[in-house]
Amino acid sequence: MCGIFAYLNYLTPKSRLEVLDLLVTGLKRLEYRGYDSTGVAIDSPDSKNIVMVKRTGKVKVLEDAILEHFSGGEYSEPVMTHIGIAHTRWATHGVPCERNSHPHRSDEGNGFVVVHNGIITNYNDVKTFLAKRGYEFESDTDTEVFAKLVHHLWKTHPTYSFRELVEQAILQVEGAFAIAVKSKHFPGECVASRRSSPLLVGIKTKTRLATDHIPILYGKVLPRSDSTSEFMPLEEKEVEYFFASDASAVIEHTNRVIYLEDDDVAAVRDGTLSIHRLKKSLDDPHAREITTLKMEIQQIMKGNYDYFMQKEIFEQPDSVVNTMRGRVRFDGNAIVLGGIKDYIPEIKRCRRLMLIGCGTSYHSAVATRQLLEELTELPVMVELASDFLDRNTPIFRDDVCFFISQSGETADTLMALRYCKQRGALIVGITNTVGSSICRESHCGVHINAGPEIGVASTKAYTSQFISLVMFALVMSEDRLSLQQRRLEILQALSNLADQIREVLKLDSKVQELAKDLYQHKSLLIMGRGYNFATCLEGALKVKELTYMHSEGIMAGELKHGPLALVDGSMPVLMIVLRDPVYVKCMNALQQVTSRKGCPVIICEEGDEETKAFSSRHLEIPRTVDCLQGILTVIPMQLLSYHIAVLRGCDVDCPRNLAKSVTVE
Ligand code: M6R
Repeated sequence: MCGIFAYLNYLTPKSRLEVLDLLVTGLKRLEYRGYDSTGVAIDSPDSKNIVMVKRTGKVKVLEDAILEHFSGGEYSEPVMTHIGIAHTRWATHGVPCERNSHPHRSDEGNGFVVVHNGIITNYNDVKTFLAKRGYEFESDTDTEVFAKLVHHLWKTHPTYSFRELVEQAILQVEGAFAIAVKSKHFPGECVASRRSSPLLVGIKTKTRLATDHIPILYGKVLPRSDSTSEFMPLEEKEVEYFFASDASAVIEHTNRVIYLEDDDVAAVRDGTLSIHRLKKSLDDPHAREITTLKMEIQQIMKGNYDYFMQKEIFEQPDSVVNTMRGRVRFDGNAIVLGGIKDYIPEIKRCRRLMLIGCGTSYHSAVATRQLLEELTELPVMVELASDFLDRNTPIFRDDVCFFISQSGETADTLMALRYCKQRGALIVGITNTVGSSICRESHCGVHINAGPEIGVASTKAYTSQFISLVMFALVMSEDRLSLQQRRLEILQALSNLADQIREVLKLDSKVQELAKDLYQHKSLLIMGRGYNFATCLEGALKVKELTYMHSEGIMAGELKHGPLALVDGSMPVLMIVLRDPVYVKCMNALQQVTSRKGCPVIICEEGDEETKAFSSRHLEIPRTVDCLQGILTVIPMQLLSYHIAVLRGCDVDCPRNLAKSVTVE
């Protein structure tokens, strides 16, 4: 949660207005991470002070304030070297307001200013320590203690370099953070670090970099006057650096990035970047690699769509193909998952499979569990990451644990991963974000390759997670003779999937009409069972998240055990009734609803007149194999929640109180 962005130009003239423009654009790309307040800090025109602008609300509000605040000609003068830091917030400590917005400062003179993503868990102790030394606090945030702690260290250790001050402060704080710090006492320098929150450094030079690696240096306290020999000079003199919570904020400037690891301290001084660690452990690499991003700028733009979510729903015919690309060979009926193929023998020997995730990612596990049980013939447990940790779930060395996460940064999922890893289980990551923490900390994994997902509501990532798990099930059953017919049936269905998704997307205007019937209601019950129960859960999550209506995904078999009491002629109900092994049971549920005067919207198979006869409102989807139905049934639910949200005037891409990447527990 929270997006941080910092920009440093060295010997590349830029006016302060240009720097501000870069910062605001960076924040717009990161806005999905949190959007309740924003702020920037740049140098004052005489470069002796730091100026900050903060606003409650979205980046647009900040942008307007900047236009108003920085109108003077002095802000148009080019400066050779400058550093600006910026932040978009998802509140954890203290309500969204200007006072709690980042950057936070060390003192009235703005000596040190900090932007932060994460939670400093021992901030109360640090605050008490600093308060005893005369520091007064002006916000309710945990972040402010960091700025003041650096200031305190600067006063008490006047010979420390900027990097060392930040390092010493990091040693004192607990919890999760990604931070970027700017100081008027160290002009032209920036120090950034991370622990359990993502942070990368983008590097832009005129020509290709002379090195693909930045060596890691190990902390030692050096006098501030020490030469820059500890830094790894790039051969380029003119250079620009971007510090960002994720790659979408830097891709329009450079595709060369370094993903920082926990407790890395990245410092730029005299235009050169160095990466430090305080302690050396045996398995530490000697250098951090500069990675070339594969992402394209178009992927993070809305194009002709009104919202990112809408674009992402309509991208699904392509994103599902991208998930299978280079992996499924339809001509030879073969599947290779390069990221896990060497581990398949070990996985086949395991005691059980555990699928762990949160929210939509968890639902993709629910959706595929039955098929995994069938094709792997192993026990499959599906777990919500947060609950899994609360229970101290027993984990064994011969467990194989899948961590499913679009962002690859969800704190609960990451904590559960570390818990299982410590206990010796094999860790398989299923993520959409190359270089994310879950990717890096897994033993092996599958990139779902859905492309960047910007809308806070997850859509295309879900269908791609679903397919990734189906592909895994197919790999596991490759040599099981008795399962070959079933595998062929699934492979055949996978080859038709993109076209069938296109067909379902044609229901858009019909779904929009349906949304008009539903958007003024308070509640929506979504019922189904078997392979479609996950769609009920996921559909209800989408409705809640986007429309703020109450919605509940109900296992149709449970109807008579309680939820049926909710049903009457006025309660909106949606039922998924497809021609699969649980059809008869679903029809029973349908009858139970209609005989209580319920008038459900039915999702059924094309041309299924018998089922359609139960209601005047239905959405027909193409027939596919039972275990892939969930991909086709979830799309009307995505469209429905989208249209209801638009009709209710909700902010589709940035639902209230939420953020895309939940990096706090
Ligand atoms: O990035 P992750 O997949 O780990 O995120 C997990 C959930 O926070 C996420 O799926 C959330 O439920 C979505 N916003 C739902 O649309």
